[in-house]
Amino acid sequence: MLFTAGKNDIAVAMEPQLTPLIESLPSTVPFVGPETLERKRNRPFRARLGANENGFGPAPSVISAMRDAAPDVWKYCDPENFDLKAALAAHLAITSGAVAPGTIAPGNVVVGEGVDTLLGLTVRQYVREGTPVVTSLGAYPTFNFHVAGFGGRLVTVPYRNDHEDLDALLDAVRREKAPLVYFSNPDNPMGTWHEASKIEAFIAALPETTMLILDEAYGETAPASALPAIDISRPNVLRMRTFSKAYGLAGMRCGYAIGAASQITAFDKIRNHFGMNRMVQIAALAALEDQNYLREVVARIIAGRDRIAAIAAQNGLAAIPSATNFVTIDCGRDGAYAANILNGLIERDIFVRKPMAPVLDRCIRVSVGLDEELDLFEEKLAETLAALK
Ligand SMILES: Cc1ncc(COP(=O)(O)O)c(C=O)c1O
Repeated sequence: MLFTAGKNDIAVAMEPQLTPLIESLPSTVPFVGPETLERKRNRPFRARLGANENGFGPAPSVISAMRDAAPDVWKYCDPENFDLKAALAAHLAITSGAVAPGTIAPGNVVVGEGVDTLLGLTVRQYVREGTPVVTSLGAYPTFNFHVAGFGGRLVTVPYRNDHEDLDALLDAVRREKAPLVYFSNPDNPMGTWHEASKIEAFIAALPETTMLILDEAYGETAPASALPAIDISRPNVLRMRTFSKAYGLAGMRCGYAIGAASQITAFDKIRNHFGMNRMVQIAALAALEDQNYLREVVARIIAGRDRIAAIAAQNGLAAIPSATNFVTIDCGRDGAYAANILNGLIERDIFVRKPMAPVLDRCIRVSVGLDEELDLFEEKLAETLAALK
């Protein structure tokens, strides 16, 4: 809009001024959604295998609890997430090999709109403009997005043999005196994992003033030996988990962080207290209660991983062993070749994604899906590879 203050004044464009930080940020998003691609293509995908969702969906008991809850959505959620936090604390105390069993209390848990939201809140607590933050090159991009949004300076270390390199992460933390370090175990985008003993050694060696975000979004699909016992006496570790993956509730948005009470209460100073929706509080509670369904789904996910690995092998490609609900396939050549395979699959209505950082970018990443989706993937991968010959 143009404002002219007086007869001799020059017309000046006036508009609200963004902060220099926001002005400086690129308008990129961490992920382009499949819906965006469908709109561009003007055609729906036939197999949705790119976003590490769980096509098996939530338990029937969860859907039924959500149905029952639907008429009550005129009410705001309980801003304290009281019932869900109590249920999570009780569940974790039994299942997580807590260092002192029974010590995990509701005050050690914060619930939020997915791990993604909790990552942003954590970054906000520890990062000012210019603060060094350590992560792996090519690791989960939403974390990087939040670091950029708060003006942090991202310090990255390369993967080693398709695993996050814990020694290099630690070296970078020490060198940079970084107050925050992030990695996921199991890892996205490679699906690889470290055993709990390695994670415990990393935590023991971490400076006391550095907060570790240990993202365990894929914790439920990992071998138990990959998950250290939860020790809420450590003020510099936040473990993050989600209902989006094994529990099949990605669209509902619910994640949680577990940590020392002093750190967890800090979230209350800045979180969106009414950000959770009432229905997801009920859905998450019901999902936690239905551990039989969770076990069934995890078994189906493991079978799906084996199937994707077999499809890769029958096409002369190597699947990287995975502890997640996806399989990353080494396409055996460079990033451009893997991109051609990805595009070939997308043209053939198969939604998959790929890692973008050099070396990792030789791969495509395929989420476990329904049998019929994996049938289509099998058919279209062979077609794509043949067309690229
Ligand atoms: C490592 C990792 N963390 C977090 C998330 C997102 O979790 P949520 O849906 O709880 O925000 C994902 C989703 O793909 C992920 O791969």
